Amino acid sequence: MSQAQSLLGKVALVTGASAGIGQATARSLAEAGAHVVATARREDRLEGLVSEINCKGGSAVSRTADVTEPGAIQQVVSETVAESGRIDILVNNAGIMRISDITENNIEDWTAMVDVNIKGVLHFLSAVMPNMIQQGSGHIVNVGSVAGRRPFPGASVYAATKFAVRALSWGLHLELGAAHGIRVTDIQPGYVSTDLLADQPETQAAWSEAWTERRTLEPEDVARSIVFAVSSPDHVSVSEILVRPTDQPT
Ligand SMILES: NC(=O)c1ccc[n+]([C@@H]2O[C@H](COP(=O)([O-])OP(=O)(O)OC[C@H]3O[C@@H](n4cnc5c(N)ncnc54)[C@H](OP(=O)(O)O)[C@@H]3O)[C@@H](O)[C@H]2O)c1
Repeated sequence: MSQAQSLLGKVALVTGASAGIGQATARSLAEAGAHVVATARREDRLEGLVSEINCKGGSAVSRTADVTEPGAIQQVVSETVAESGRIDILVNNAGIMRISDITENNIEDWTAMVDVNIKGVLHFLSAVMPNMIQQGSGHIVNVGSVAGRRPFPGASVYAATKFAVRALSWGLHLELGAAHGIRVTDIQPGYVSTDLLADQPETQAAWSEAWTERRTLEPEDVARSIVFAVSSPDHVSVSEILVRPTDQPT
């Protein structure tokens, strides 16, 4: 089957779809034929994405929710199953990164990253997993990071959340793969040009400056990796993809 229509008939739920990697992934999954359920907090951005996909002949709906609120997440999943009958693909992409030296003891930022990057992933897992087990199939894509393999200064806690996502992904393969036919992929991007640091303008400016002579990844580059993983034949579980800019020295 060609990749162009390889996901026809599949229902894909994408978190963090209002921007960056999630938005590009929603577009790419829709282009590959999936019906996309795009979720995040910013309704206007989701609405723009959904009308763009539908205008181009794809199929998408939006549902606003905060990944830190388990009740809201359960509602997104229940409404999706009621409307579409199933969820074949979950892309757990919503995430935040707060950079600060560990000695700053910035426990508010640490907690926020744990709440979104780990607990948010668990909330969606918990809500979607029973449906996938009942179906006897499904694909969970967790967006980790190169930082989930190797921390860097200022990002110890961020890296810890992405190590957790990688450990979870590995464990899910062991528990859900052979027993339930559910595939799990941990996508580990290097530096991607997005708004991830938009709420830390000084850090964002410093990183942009450091990358002026180097090519970053674009969100579409990561989306392509995700489509590759979920378009692989059912008996193939692409467990991890590390995708870095060619110019990234770390
Ligand atoms: N950019 C990189 O270099 C890079 C590298 C490796 C991994 N990643 C990972 O890639 C993922 C996507 O990041 P990005 O770079 O695309 O950043 P982004 O452009 O800032 O997008 C982040 C997305 O997460 C959503 N989000 C954040 N907090 C949320 C919450 N509490 N509830 C629901 N949605 C929430 C945002 O939507 P709303 O604000 O509308 O809710 C937005 O759609 C993250 O997990 C990040 O850690 C990024």
